[in-house]
Amino acid sequence: MRGLSALTWSAAVLAITGVTQALPRISRQGKYLFDPSGNRFYIKGVAYQPQGQLAETSAANAENGGFPEPSSYVDPLSSSANCTRDIPYLKQLGVNAVRVYSVNPTLNHDACMSALDSAGIYVMLDVSLPLNGSIDRSSPSWSTNLLNEYTTTINIFNKYNNVLAYNIANEVVTTNANTVAAPYVKAAARDIKAYLKGIGAAALVGYSATDGDAAFRNSMAHYMTCGADDVSVDIYGLNNYEWCGDQNLNNSNWGAITAGFSDIPVATYMSEYGCIFSPPRLWTEVAALYSAPVSNVFSGGVAFSYFPTSDGYGMVTFSGTNGSTVQTSADFTRLATQYNATSPPNSPTKSAAPASATIACPTQNSTWLASNTLPPTPNEAVCNCVNDNAFACRVRPATANRPVILGSLLDYTCSLLGSSNSGASCSTIGGNGATGQYGVLSYCSPAIKLNYAFSAYYEFSPIPQSCDFSSNATLSANRPNTAQDAQTAAQSCLAQEPAGGVFTPRPASSSPASSNTASGAGASGSGSAQSSRAAAGRAAEVGRSSLLWAGLGLMGLLGGGAAVLA
Ligand SMILES: *[C@@H]1O[C@H](CO)[C@@H](O)[C@H](O)[C@H]1NC(C)=O
Ligand SMILES: *[C@@H]1O[C@H](CO)[C@@H](O)[C@H](O)[C@H]1NC(C)=O
Ligand SMILES: *[C@@H]1O[C@H](CO)[C@@H](O)[C@H](O)[C@H]1NC(C)=O
Ligand SMILES: *[C@@H]1O[C@H](CO)[C@@H](O)[C@H](O)[C@H]1NC(C)=O
Ligand SMILES: *[C@@H]1O[C@H](CO)[C@@H](O)[C@H](O)[C@H]1NC(C)=O
Ligand SMILES: *[C@@H]1O[C@H](CO)[C@@H](O)[C@H](O)[C@H]1NC(C)=O
Ligand SMILES: *[C@@H]1O[C@H](CO)[C@@H](O)[C@H](O)[C@H]1NC(C)=O
Repeated sequence: MRGLSALTWSAAVLAITGVTQALPRISRQGKYLFDPSGNRFYIKGVAYQPQGQLAETSAANAENGGFPEPSSYVDPLSSSANCTRDIPYLKQLGVNAVRVYSVNPTLNHDACMSALDSAGIYVMLDVSLPLNGSIDRSSPSWSTNLLNEYTTTINIFNKYNNVLAYNIANEVVTTNANTVAAPYVKAAARDIKAYLKGIGAAALVGYSATDGDAAFRNSMAHYMTCGADDVSVDIYGLNNYEWCGDQNLNNSNWGAITAGFSDIPVATYMSEYGCIFSPPRLWTEVAALYSAPVSNVFSGGVAFSYFPTSDGYGMVTFSGTNGSTVQTSADFTRLATQYNATSPPNSPTKSAAPASATIACPTQNSTWLASNTLPPTPNEAVCNCVNDNAFACRVRPATANRPVILGSLLDYTCSLLGSSNSGASCSTIGGNGATGQYGVLSYCSPAIKLNYAFSAYYEFSPIPQSCDFSSNATLSANRPNTAQDAQTAAQSCLAQEPAGGVFTPRPASSSPASSNTASGAGASGSGSAQSSRAAAGRAAEVGRSSLLWAGLGLMGLLGGGAAVLA
């Protein structure tokens, strides 16, 4: 590139990325957001995600932990025509940000992201996906497949200047009972934050919480923002619909909510708002949100929703061929008027803003169950290594792509192990967000976890019929000869685990298709098995002590070993 002037060089970069760089980076200092001039930045947003199909059946909802949620999605940033159709209306609304809940990293987003950028609109992007693409509150795990899904999306969106934040999850924790899922959510924030730092990305890391009673709402916010800065989210979103119709800070609860969040040391915002239960929506909460005292605590919010939903939200409708014509509603106009009338205080400015504070984590009690010990960083190298070298019995590829069947087989096989006298148990692949104990393979993909359970059962009863599971399983061609060999191989794989189990994740492979369960799907005898083995050999000299960080001895790993059978 020598000889290119700076101008030519930046033109060349633009030509390569196809992205203009109009919007400045927004950064956080302590609890506020700032533009590069040091002025406060407030999110004036609208949710921009067409409704996916709702999981209507109770079986599908069971998979979601009993909570009706979309089971499919349409990527709103993938259609240049739709973005071109919508952006004039987003500008009329006066928004500077959209919240997008689900995108497909295999599609092209250049046109939409660039058009939004030119329109002065940032994107708050959720990196989780429906169903198995999110942390499952009823059986929580922060696992390699989710980490890969998240980093794959981040790798695609990292080139866009106007990504304000990546949301690592939306409403995973919904009740006191599933507060045990919170450590997994926070571990995701920790690892994605480290990942972004590792690739030099400036986007913020966020979580969007369900509303609840004051104890739940405040404990969740404190939990996600307590302790060291590198484990805390940068921006905490509250999905809140408590301001209904012509209310005020007192009778809407927004005054109490603001007071409850006043010591949150990071930026907060209403990641969804706009109650529909006292129609018409007047959007009088907008004036409150963008002035003191709420603006002392919150940095704006995201009105729900631009697109219509089956349960009565939405500000526009579409007609004409391919829905190419937009009709705005009176609701739209009222929100636009309110957004246009805001003039939030530029206070404090960055130079006057307090330095970051640290708050204590909530103490566990009978309603707040989450341990402050977080699960380890998902370690794909360890998972692939044990899978390739220590697991004799593996799930067939066709089954590996069926998350519901994987789940039912895992439950079944773990109960078989539990009721056998094998000495093996699924605690190696399980975890407990209340006690803060996590099995050494608790972060592996569902398919590799199932391979563990299948293989532990097979070690206990090493005859071919023990590796069938109604034709869902098959013996690996390069399986370990004996249970002892399996133990030894697993042990050297686990020796790769860094002390403490927390590290900066490496970028996911550039091809999303290769992201996860494929390696758990029983592709045996591959080159990757060879290199994993070599790595395991090198790592063996690290010794066993790293096994102990999860508080589990080796016998917990593959308890069906020869010694147990003897
Ligand atoms: C979810 O399941 C599908 C198969 O239905 C699979 O292709 C995808 O990789 C899974 N996602 C994650 C994050 O495990
Ligand atoms: C549990 O602790 C939270 C504060 O972290 C508190 O608000 C809540 O009332 C406590 N619950 C019980 C049952 O003591
Ligand atoms: C809310 O309550 C406070 C304290 O009682 C009162 O000073 C204030 O005027 C009330 N605000 C509104 C909008 O009713
Ligand atoms: C409508 O959408 C389809 C599918 O994207 C496309 O083939 C067709 O040309 C569109 N029609 C018009 C009038 O834009
Ligand atoms: C584009 O808009 C049409 C009409 O509203 C909708 O049917 C289609 O799903 C949208 N496509 C995307 C990718 O958002
Ligand atoms: C809001 O402001 C935008 C941009 O200045 C303008 O295009 C739009 O007409 C305004 N809308 C209302 C309802 O005032
Ligand atoms: C796999 O397991 C599921 C669930 O137990 C069962 O319905 C199915 O018949 C099994 N076999 C195959 C080949 O899918």
